[in-house]
Amino acid sequence: MSIPDPRTVARLSVVGPGRVGRAAALAFTAAGYAVSGPSGRGEPVAEADAVLLCVPDREIGAVAAALRGRGALLGHTSGATPLAGSGVDFGLHPLRSFAGAEGADAFAGVGCAVAGVSPQALRTAEELARAVGGTPFEVADDQRAGYHAAASIASNFLVTLEAAAERVAAASGLPADFRAHLAPLVRGTVENWAAHGPRAALTGPIARGDEETVHRQREAVAARAPELLALFDELSDRTRALVRSEETPA
Ligand SMILES: NC(=O)c1ccc[n+]([C@@H]2O[C@H](COP(=O)([O-])OP(=O)(O)OC[C@H]3O[C@@H](n4cnc5c(N)ncnc54)[C@H](OP(=O)(O)O)[C@@H]3O)[C@@H](O)[C@H]2O)c1
Repeated sequence: MSIPDPRTVARLSVVGPGRVGRAAALAFTAAGYAVSGPSGRGEPVAEADAVLLCVPDREIGAVAAALRGRGALLGHTSGATPLAGSGVDFGLHPLRSFAGAEGADAFAGVGCAVAGVSPQALRTAEELARAVGGTPFEVADDQRAGYHAAASIASNFLVTLEAAAERVAAASGLPADFRAHLAPLVRGTVENWAAHGPRAALTGPIARGDEETVHRQREAVAARAPELLALFDELSDRTRALVRSEETPA
């Protein structure tokens, strides 16, 4: 059995009493850290070994500048903000969405993008991620924009697609609560994709090569939700390419 490294952080200050900051304070307290905060605008930030900034991305630079030189390692929780130029020493981005009511287990089983300006700072980010049950993976500054784009495609654009599906259903006269019938379909598909990859998870007329059915679907979209036709065509093409591809993404 491996013996975990001793912690390098005992006292942690959390700044920003928003969705992430509140959950982080609960999670790190439950993990045994001496947590101060989350402190809001104009409130003092307690002396600590590390300070975790859970403030909006646009505020990170100013908050980091105000806390610099106090001896604590500074970290942010932003997915989009590179370390270079941000004024912080490490990044710890939980790859999940926080709505505001999360509890102490908010980071359990969650992938956490970590980065550090030094090996010590990176080690601190990894230590903090693991302490709250997260799984750290390193994302360097030059990978960050692509990493964040992938996360947005996977999560944000999925919601956009479901909104488009609801729009076509409503325009076709299906009941207002049709979302309840789409949801199990979406959940099952996401589970199949997660377990088996995109090629194996793909079903439906394009996967079967049934272009007649695809044509009828396209006519329905053109007639009932024409503003979605370009999206339908682009996604149909991407789906045909997926069917043709020999390999699934690694
Ligand atoms: N929400 C998510 O799903 C999610 C997921 C992963 C990572 N993140 C990242 O986590 C960070 C925080 O996001 P969030 O969603 O928790 O934002 P949020 O809910 O808007 O909370 C931000 C908090 O920071 C406070 N704040 C702003 N400026 C401050 C300052 N100068 N000093 C102290 N507190 C200040 C805000 O207070 P006011 O109300 O007074 O402005 C607010 O309480 C961001 O970098 C975000 O990209 C968010």
